[in-house]
Amino acid sequence: MIGGGYVGLVSGACFAEFGTDVAIVETDAQKLSALREGRIPIYEPGLDAIVAGNVGAGRLSFGDDLKAAIDGADAVFIAVGTPTRRGDGHADLTYVYEAARQIARMAATGLLVVTKSTVPVGTGREVARILAEERPDLTFSVASNPEFLREGNAIGDFMRPDRVIIGIDRDNGDDGAHAERIMRALYRPLYLIETPIVMTGLETAELAKYASNAFLAMKVTFINEMADLCEKVGADVHDVARGMGLDQRIGRRFLHAGPGYGGSCFPKDTRALTAIARDAGVPTRLIEATVEINEARKQAMAERIIAHAGGVHGKTIGVLGLTFKPDTDDMREASSLPIIAHLAAEGASIRAFDPQGMAAARSLLPRGVEYCDDALSAIDGADVLVVLTEWNEFRALAPERLRELMRGTTIADLRNIWSPETMRAAGFDYRSIGRP
Ligand code: UDX
Repeated sequence: MIGGGYVGLVSGACFAEFGTDVAIVETDAQKLSALREGRIPIYEPGLDAIVAGNVGAGRLSFGDDLKAAIDGADAVFIAVGTPTRRGDGHADLTYVYEAARQIARMAATGLLVVTKSTVPVGTGREVARILAEERPDLTFSVASNPEFLREGNAIGDFMRPDRVIIGIDRDNGDDGAHAERIMRALYRPLYLIETPIVMTGLETAELAKYASNAFLAMKVTFINEMADLCEKVGADVHDVARGMGLDQRIGRRFLHAGPGYGGSCFPKDTRALTAIARDAGVPTRLIEATVEINEARKQAMAERIIAHAGGVHGKTIGVLGLTFKPDTDDMREASSLPIIAHLAAEGASIRAFDPQGMAAARSLLPRGVEYCDDALSAIDGADVLVVLTEWNEFRALAPERLRELMRGTTIADLRNIWSPETMRAAGFDYRSIGRP
């Protein structure tokens, strides 16, 4: 497994849990020494136990020597980063292609090379070309095996997925039979729970991943627009979502209105898909609109809070939640970033708390933001309370306690964690998203 980042580490540990021997190659010395000492550099519930168990059982190891890792291996997975390239929205594939070149130089014949990172359509084909170019003397197989792991739920998503998608290059001499055998063997434990395995071509697997994430991002954006409309016409977006979602063709999940989607996948993948589609001469206008609407929404949220509070200059704002969603320490493209920057620029004092995100937030949020030890100290003395991430521990805060601690009564709940009736009965000027 090349890359001990989020995808590589979770996938490597879970394949080991399935009974496969896995060597994870990580070149970042700091990350590597952490992993070797049993420290997991990311917050992911359950991952530490799986890593420890499989290291202990001798099935999982970490190193920086690619040659040693692929020596005698049946397959090598490329799970390196694919950040958004500056300027054109495309994914930057430098690391993927560099990994392919290195693999080619050290590989033995028959090796299966699998892309696990989310990569644009055509990347698998290019990896095959690089392998053939570097080592015309060898036969390789190439596959694409996109991941669908949600942060905070990655172990469950890997062990009990809705489906596994495997794209195979059938143009390599044996019609992909060798690759298919290895991939099916790797995922054999899932046959017991009858997980559908979608066997397809390279390009199809690559596109299926982008299409899935773009569709979900669009679904979230759709309900966000409905929420805005609900507020104007006096409807309740929760019930609209429930009424829609019970139709099985629509489905109930991913219809929770909020301050806009963030994270390491949706923003990056939607941008990459629009770039791929534009280049192919078939612009995806729905996804282009999704990207624009979501960006604008994050910006608009601060204005909404300012209007609700009747201005924030000189006021103290308690902020609960910073990460892009709960159960993660990830701050990438979190709505909290533009919202807090805007509120601070308006002259508000920010007192923030997040159970896992504060370390990462410090380098991303404006200086002057105060980081509190717990939720109650962030609320203490606040004129305005803003909820930005729906961590479960915030739901349990008693309204009476909030009332005692706060100086003001304004609450902007951008994740709808409390009920409007309860909060109004407790004396708050409470506003949430898309509810009367
Ligand atoms: C996502 C995909 O779900 C996963 O399959 C993919 O492989 C990686 O990207 P992740 O980024 O971890 O996973 O988070 P997810 O739970 O999908 O949430 C993404 C964003 O959408 C978050 O900012 C979340 O707050 C937001 N969201 C999600 C909503 O606002 N409403 C919803 O109903 C669901």
